[in-house]
Amino acid sequence: MIPEFASGEGPDPRWPIGIFDSGLGGLTVWRALRRQLPQEPLLYFGDTARVPYGGRSPEEILTFVRQILTWMQAQPVKLVVMACNTSSALALEQVRQEYALPIFGLILPGAQAALAQGSRIGVIATAATVNSRAYSKAIQEYSALNPKRCPQCWEQACPEFVPLIEAGELNSPDLRRAAEAHLQPLLQQRIDTLIYGCTHYPLLDPILRSLLPPSVRRVDPGVALVGSLAKELGLWGLRHPGTPTGRQERFCVSGDPERFARLATPWLGFRPQVEQVELPDLSPSCAPGCTKQEQ
Ligand code: DGL
Repeated sequence: MIPEFASGEGPDPRWPIGIFDSGLGGLTVWRALRRQLPQEPLLYFGDTARVPYGGRSPEEILTFVRQILTWMQAQPVKLVVMACNTSSALALEQVRQEYALPIFGLILPGAQAALAQGSRIGVIATAATVNSRAYSKAIQEYSALNPKRCPQCWEQACPEFVPLIEAGELNSPDLRRAAEAHLQPLLQQRIDTLIYGCTHYPLLDPILRSLLPPSVRRVDPGVALVGSLAKELGLWGLRHPGTPTGRQERFCVSGDPERFARLATPWLGFRPQVEQVELPDLSPSCAPGCTKQEQ
């Protein structure tokens, strides 16, 4: 999982962990990281100028992910957590071959955590993630290793959720109606486990929980990922060596920093200082050093 580095060229354990998402959703992973790895400096990037990712093409998503990784590498960061299921489903395998950075995604930890809980697995996610069938494939691959179990998986796209969450609506009648409609086909299949296959969705846990029978277990892949990351950091010598000095957190966005700060405050428990940053333009027509932002 960790790329090989020539001696002396590897990441410095004192560098921050980079985390990115299209917008607010990755903060659910940020929170899990903060709880489990309090000593680690964190750099968060939200691509708020281009959220949502869920209705975009695989090519667009790959381009955005490359821009974000190139920017993160230059900060620098010691590793990257893709706190975005859509990016993990559509770009992780490709960019792992392109970047000399450890990059962690959500699909495998989420699938593994769900299989540890049940065998009739529902997934709610963005349309792009559902169309990729990344969760169904991961679940089939794991179960092939254990032929005694025959898990089944049903995936449901919830395209209204992210725009409503990014608009600050976590409990509106529209949201509740959409949640009821999207859970219904999964409940008809008598699922015993539900994967929150988009990092925005744990923000809806109070509503979703109220619509699910108590017997259905809810899986947050971000929490599962952070659990395995804590072990990997030690294994690869990337754990921060001591009590860090200076700023522990940096929040950056491609869109409006004030808006992000306001919407993130209830979830973070403090008002973050947010910077607006420009991502590199990686199109071949752009001269080296050009930082023109893609529209
Ligand atoms: N939070 C992201 C995910 O986990 C992206 C959602 C979106 O921008 O549509 O898929």
